[in-house]
Order: sequence, then structure tokens, then C-alpha cells
Amino acid sequence: MVYFHQFAESLGNTVDAKDPLTFNHSQEVAQISQVMARAMALSESTVDLIHLAGHLHDIGKIGIPDAILKKQGRLNREEWAWIKRHPEMGAKIVRPVTSFGVKGGVAT
Ligand SMILES: [Fe+2]
Repeated sequence: MVYFHQFAESLGNTVDAKDPLTFNHSQEVAQISQVMARAMALSESTVDLIHLAGHLHDIGKIGIPDAILKKQGRLNREEWAWIKRHPEMGAKIVRPVTSFGVKGGVAT
């Protein structure tokens, strides 16, 4: 689990490195999600899973063109459509990770 966590953290850092405005965002989401999951008295294995998901929650941004991701100012309709697709792209990226309990895009 330690290596998996380190790998998830590295992937989150990769996404954050694409956009200087969101530097450390994935790390912060992972830590805040972990605190919230513990406050909800979830099992430690679920807390760990939520923490990992925090690191990876924006992984789909890798599929968004840099010109859109780094654009200053308002996005047009087509650019905004790209941004809205990042959760779907992220789900496709992490789908092979069976530890997430996701089968065919639906949590089991
Ligand atoms: Fe972490």
C-alpha cells in the first residue's frame, strides 16, 4: 500500500505541475479528505482509499490541452466542455486499478 500511495501522490504532483495556479492542490485535497473521512469515523482502509482518491481526483486534467488548462481569462463554450470532461477522463485512467473497487466505471 505504501508504494501505491507514493505512486498516487506522484501522479497527483504530475497533474499539479501542469498548472502553476493549482500547485499542491492534489496534496491538499488528499489531506483534507483524509481528515474528513476520519471525522466521519470511517474504517482506516476507507480513509486510506479516500486519501488516495484525493491525490488522483484531478488526474483527468492530463487529457486537457495545455492551451485550455493554462488559459488566462474566460473559457469559451468549447473550452469549458473540455474542462467538464476531466472527471470522466480521470475515471478511465484509474479504471485498471482494481483496488479502487471500480468495475466498468461503477463503484462496487
Ligand atoms: Fe498522501
